[in-house]
Parts: sequence; structure tokens; C-alpha cells
Amino acid sequence: MKLFSKIIGLIILIGVICSLLPVAGLYLQKDAAGPTNEQIINKLKDNKGSYFSFIVFGDNHAGFIFDDSAFLKLIHRMNRENRFRKLNMDFAVNLGDVSFIKGTEWDYRVYNRLRAKIKWPVISLMGNHDDDKGGESRFKKYLGKKEFAFAQRNSYFIALDNKINALSEEQCAWLEAELKKSLAFKHRFVLMHKQALSLYQQSWFRPELVKWSYRFMKLCEEYKVDIVFAGHEHMFREGAYGGVRYIISGGGGMLSQIPEADGGYLHYLVVRVYGDYVDFEVRKVFPPLWEYFTYYMWKELLYFVKDIFF
Ligand SMILES: [Fe+2]
Repeated sequence: MKLFSKIIGLIILIGVICSLLPVAGLYLQKDAAGPTNEQIINKLKDNKGSYFSFIVFGDNHAGFIFDDSAFLKLIHRMNRENRFRKLNMDFAVNLGDVSFIKGTEWDYRVYNRLRAKIKWPVISLMGNHDDDKGGESRFKKYLGKKEFAFAQRNSYFIALDNKINALSEEQCAWLEAELKKSLAFKHRFVLMHKQALSLYQQSWFRPELVKWSYRFMKLCEEYKVDIVFAGHEHMFREGAYGGVRYIISGGGGMLSQIPEADGGYLHYLVVRVYGDYVDFEVRKVFPPLWEYFTYYMWKELLYFVKDIFF
């Protein structure tokens, strides 16, 4: 029995060490240059046809070992997405909080190394952690524009910067102008960092209590937006209001404090556009083993104990 426990312990130890190797390699490797949002959009223009797919994730928070290790595991899975060669995977979208917490040079350099590992070009949005301490200029230098719209095959994508929550008058006017343009396309998708309403009861973030969110949702309803994607909350959640789907996808790497049963898990989305139809799948990813034993296991245990006593 003692020998059996020792063997199991050794297997777990080897698993833990192996799960740390990719992130160790990441920190030792050279910096990688990546295309800006403008350069990516420019390349996408040549895509034709009305059947395609794209990846959506948010809140990888590069520059912190827990987040980078988890994001590397997600990237490994993402890169296998077209193994059955069913549908073209055109690009990936990062819904913001690309950097750990202060938008430092280190965070952006690590993010560049990470996104260079993804097979497809990654469009990156501005999150509330990406502009701290000069981060806004680094975002511009490494990733380019933070607000833009682009046509892709039969769909129109509008990316907004709402890191400070509210949308300004100018932003609302620009959004409506872009939504008008989008009517020439079959589908409309809005991408931003913070969702217009909180989809989770225990959430600390309450965008629906401010004026912009109602106005934004009415615009989305009027122009028949298919899906509004946002991150910010480190979880997966979805809801539908006024014929529009609202999705929170913030499980791209950052440690989640939310119970797994409520959506607090690592994941990314695969969105598929089949001509007239749109659907998506959530790809849940188990954390790297070392991270599971040092954080996720304890988080779940804590909620389990809490549920028994409270
Ligand atoms: Fe975040």
C-alpha cells in the first residue's frame, strides 16, 4: 500500500512538473512581433464565402505565471480546432484585459509571445487593465487601434472600447453609424470588454444600472445584432434580451474566483457562421495540473464547504 501511494505521488509530481514546462519555456523565449488590429483587418478583406468560424476569448491577463500557464493550455487546444477541416477558422478575438493588471511593458511583451503561438491572427480589444500606467500607448504600439469595425464575408464586426463602462455620445453616434452600415450584411457582432448587463447574480459589476447600457441594448435590438461578446468577468455566461444574445467570455487565463458550476472555468468559444445561421460552442479547458493543485482545487473546496454550512 505504501509503495502504491509512493507511485501515485510520483506520477502526480511528474505531472505537476510537466505542466509547468510550457510557461517556463515562454519566459525564456525571445520576444515576438505581431500584427496590429489594422493589419489583421486588412488581410481579412480577401476572405470570400459565407461559411466560416472564429474564436472568442477574453481576459488572458498576460504577465502573471498562473494566467500565462493557463492561456498556453488554451492556445494548445485552439490550435487543434481545424483538425477536421470542416470550416475555415478565420481569426480569433481577445475581448480585452490582454495584460495582467497594469498594462506594463512586460505584460505586453509576454502577450505578443503568446498571441504569436495562435495559428490565426488575433484581434485584441482594450480592457480596463490594459491602459494603466502608460499602457494605452503600449496598446497602440503593439496592437494598434482600440475601436474599429470591419466586414468579414457575410458578417460585420464592431469593436468598442468601453473599459470605463459608459459609452460617450460620440461612441454611441459612431456605433449607430456602423450598425447602419452593417445592415448590408447578414450578421452583426459587437465586441467589447464590459457587457451591457450583468448576467450573473453574484457579480460585483452592474453595468445595467447606468444609462448607456439601456441605450446600447435598444440599438442592438433595433439593428438586430446577432451576438454581443464581452469579457471582464472571469467566467462564461449567456443570456438573450430583445432577440440579441449577450455573452460573457472572460475565462481566457486569469484565475477565476467564481464557482465552476456557475461558469467560473477556463474556456474559449468557437463561433460558426453557416450562411444564414450562427451558433457557438464553449470549449472548457481543465487548468494546468500545477495550477489545479495550487488554486482551482481549493477554490472549489471552499465553495463546497460554504454550500454545506451556509
Ligand atoms: Fe479581467
